[in-house]
Amino acid sequence: MRDRTSICLCLAAESIEEDLRIAEEHRGRFDLLELRVDRLSAGEAGLAGRLPARVGSPVILTLRRTREGGKFGGSEQERHALLSKLAVSGFAYIDLEEDFDASDLEARVTGRGGRVIRSMHDFTGVPADLARRVTSLAHHPGEIPKAALLPKNAADLVRLLAAFTDLEGVEKILLGMGDTGFPTRVLAPRLGSFLCYTSAARAQAAPGQVDPLTLERTYNFRSITPRTQVYGVIGSPIMHSLSPLIHNRGFAAIGFDAVYLPFLVDDLDGFWPAADCLEIKGLSVTVPHKQAVISRLSGRDRLVESTGACNTLTRAQGKGPWQGTNTDVEGFLAPLRAALGGAIPRGVSATVIGAGGAARAVVHALKAAGARVLVLNRTAERGRELAEAFSVSHAGLDEPGFLQARDFGDLIVQTTSAGMSPNIAADPAPGLAFSGREIVYELLYAPPTTVFLQRALAAGCRVVRGRKMLVGQAMEQFRLFTGSIYPADLRAELEADMD
Ligand code: ATR
Repeated sequence: MRDRTSICLCLAAESIEEDLRIAEEHRGRFDLLELRVDRLSAGEAGLAGRLPARVGSPVILTLRRTREGGKFGGSEQERHALLSKLAVSGFAYIDLEEDFDASDLEARVTGRGGRVIRSMHDFTGVPADLARRVTSLAHHPGEIPKAALLPKNAADLVRLLAAFTDLEGVEKILLGMGDTGFPTRVLAPRLGSFLCYTSAARAQAAPGQVDPLTLERTYNFRSITPRTQVYGVIGSPIMHSLSPLIHNRGFAAIGFDAVYLPFLVDDLDGFWPAADCLEIKGLSVTVPHKQAVISRLSGRDRLVESTGACNTLTRAQGKGPWQGTNTDVEGFLAPLRAALGGAIPRGVSATVIGAGGAARAVVHALKAAGARVLVLNRTAERGRELAEAFSVSHAGLDEPGFLQARDFGDLIVQTTSAGMSPNIAADPAPGLAFSGREIVYELLYAPPTTVFLQRALAAGCRVVRGRKMLVGQAMEQFRLFTGSIYPADLRAELEADMD
């Protein structure tokens, strides 16, 4: 096996000229190309043979059927005929599906020094016998087996990771598609995959593929080796998270051999075997798991105790017990102090919207600073529970609640996930009117200006954006993960343009 995973840029545009433009734009950021002939418009497919000579990089020839996620809807005879014609055009690899028996076609490619990639696709999940399936894919010696699976949940991810372990040292292409599978794409050099597929943002070839620049800038892909340690953030949704960018840039700057990934986790219990498999040593925790992770902790600090919420997990060994802390409290307070001119005046009044894990950190922080607090929550019971835990007032997210909020109007803190990308039209409290005198602090940061914040700005309120808290809480996490202070110049870049 080669000592480094290659980056493959998939060309999935409708014309050869557009594919060539895409290749040119990404020049220097990929090792080889894949031409998805099935994505070309009808008149263009016949011209595909011209591409290898024009790009100067090895090219994979692929004509994917609809059932494997491609666009080719013709007969198998037509497919065979088109591939036979193209196979003599200088392609370095040809991707043939596991059931495509075409020895003559293979011979045309291998006879010219090319190689066959023998692929299987599964959009229903990850089979339990994946490793065995992969090892029995090849029809002839020298073929590279490839399996692209769409993990549906954490259990699927665990099965996929187990297959990587079982197939250690075997030349293969193995990847998880979609958001749940995304970490396996980035971890290809650590887990052992012959290549990692990428595509241009405007012509994505498969779910979960990112463009080569993102792979390089956000994930330091070229620095990942089998020894690279894994960190990450767990939550749902998660792909909008800026935490990978923040931490990976910091890791690179201090020379810390680690990569930080977004893990889409709905089933928290199912995720822990994946964390052990990857020997993850640190995790950020976000919506909706900040309370649920506490039952998993072996040790917790005073902040977790007093907030009842945990946003940071660390452990000394990759499979050992977890310690929990909460960096949200300080992450929340620092930007607020700055907005208030250095200190939070005692007796300041605040309305907190939401009663989840993030709200717990906020209410704790505000109470500790001497604020008068009202909690407004959609589900009355949860709001009451939080209010009673911290001895503050509570009401529903409704007219009586909004009326009461007028007495708690110095500061409005929006802690819910309503309005977060991709559901950006949502407003958690459309009936809450702003007078313009409130400071409105929203914990969301994607999008930077939600519908809720737009209303606050239109009313003339001063706003504090969630990105400030995101950066604040990440700084302390970074110190816990690496033992080092986050580089000041990078922090300044992250905080630029945030007001
Ligand atoms: P986190 O740990 O990040 O705070 P969470 O524990 O899932 O996430 O809490 C999410 C909070 O956002 C809850 O207060 C939730 O209200 P409910 O208790 O009624 O579920 C609130 N929330 C989520 N979506 C909302 C929406 N569309 N409108 C109003 N509140 C919403």
